[in-house]
Amino acid sequence: MNTRFLDACWGKPVDRVPVWLMRQAGRYLPEYMAVRSRCTFLELCKTPELAAQVSLQPVDILGVDAAILFSDILTPVEPMGMKLDFVPGPVFEKPVRCMADVERLRIPQMEGDLPFVFDIIRILRRELADRVPLIGFGGAPFTLACYMVEGKGSKDFVQIKRMMYSAPDVYAALMEKVTTMSMEYLNAQIAAGAQAIQIFDTWGGILSPSDYRTHVLPHTTRLINGLNRLATPVIHFVKGAGTMLETVREAGGDVIGLDWHVDLSLARNQLGPGVAVQGNLDPTVLFAPQAVIEQQVQRVLDENRGRPGFIFNLGHGILPTVPAENARFMVQCVQRLSRS
Ligand code: CP3
Repeated sequence: MNTRFLDACWGKPVDRVPVWLMRQAGRYLPEYMAVRSRCTFLELCKTPELAAQVSLQPVDILGVDAAILFSDILTPVEPMGMKLDFVPGPVFEKPVRCMADVERLRIPQMEGDLPFVFDIIRILRRELADRVPLIGFGGAPFTLACYMVEGKGSKDFVQIKRMMYSAPDVYAALMEKVTTMSMEYLNAQIAAGAQAIQIFDTWGGILSPSDYRTHVLPHTTRLINGLNRLATPVIHFVKGAGTMLETVREAGGDVIGLDWHVDLSLARNQLGPGVAVQGNLDPTVLFAPQAVIEQQVQRVLDENRGRPGFIFNLGHGILPTVPAENARFMVQCVQRLSRS
C-alpha cells in the first residue's frame, strides 16, 4: 500500500514528498470530457460507476499519491431543500435570505438522501485496493453559506456580508445548520471508507481577519472537533488565509492547505511544528514551458527544506484549460526531485 500521503498528513517520515492536485478529476483531462459528454455534471455525480471511473483517472494518468471522491461541495446542500443547477458554475434557484428560509432547511438523511456519495466511496475503496488512499471532502460552513446566500458565485459577496453584518442571528442560525449537516456528512464519508477528509474554505479569505475570527472560526472549529478523526486526518484549506494562518490553525486540522500567495517556508515557521502543510504551486504555472514548471516545483520543495509533514499540491484547483501532459510532468517532477 502506498501510505506516503497519509504518513505525511500525520507528520511521519516518507521516502519522497506525496503529491495530488486539487480538482484533479476534471475537464483538463480528455478522458473526463469523454465521460462527461454523455451526461450533465450532476448526473455524473449521481451515477456511482461513472463518478468512480473519473475519480480513478488522475491516479492512472498522472500517477498521484491519493484519489479524491468525485462530487461537489454543494452536493449535500441540494437535499437540504435547495434546488441546484450547474451552468457550469453552481446556481441555487432560491437563495437563503431570511430566518424563514433558514428554518425551512432540513438536515438530510445521509445514506438515505445521498446514497450515491457513499456508494462512490465504497466502489473506489474496492477498485483502489489500497493502491493509494481515498480523500473524502466537503465545503467549510462559510463557503457553503456563501453559495446558499448569494445563490451563485460572486465577486464582492454583498449578500452574505450584508446578512453577517445586518442580520447576525439569521447568519448564525444558517451557519449552525450547515455545520451540523457538514459534520454528519463528513462522518458518513469516513464511515463509508474515506481515509482522509479535506475541508474546502474557498471563500474564507474574503473576510477581514477579525470577521473571520468572529464569524467563521467558531463554526469551523465545531465542525473539525466533531469529526471522527482519530484514524482519519483532516486537511483544512482556506484560500486567501495568508494574513491569518494562526487563526486557521486554531480552527484545527492535521494539515493546513496553503495557496500560492504565501511563502511556504514563512508559513511553516508561522504555523509551527505539530501540523503538516499542503500546497502551494500557483495553478497557472501549469501553462508554462516544462523547464519553468520544473524550476517552480524545485522552488516549492526548497521552501519546505525537507521538513516532514509536507504534501505537494497546487495552491488552488487545477484550471480546466491546462494541458494534461503538463500536469503529469509536474507530478513526475515532484516524484523525481523530492526523493531522499
Ligand atoms: O478534486 C476533485 O477532482 C474532486 C471533485 C471536485 C469538484 N468540485 C468537481 C467539479 C471538488 C473537490 C470540488 C470542490 C468545489 N466545488 C469547490 C472547492 C474547491 C475550489 O475549487 O475552490 C467549489 C468552490 C465548488 C463549487 C463549484 N463546482 C464551482 C465554482 C464549479 C464551476 C467551476 C468552473 O470552473 O466552471 C463547480 C463545477 C465542478 N465541480 C466541475 C467539476 C469537475 C466542472 C463541472 C463540469 O464538468 O461541467
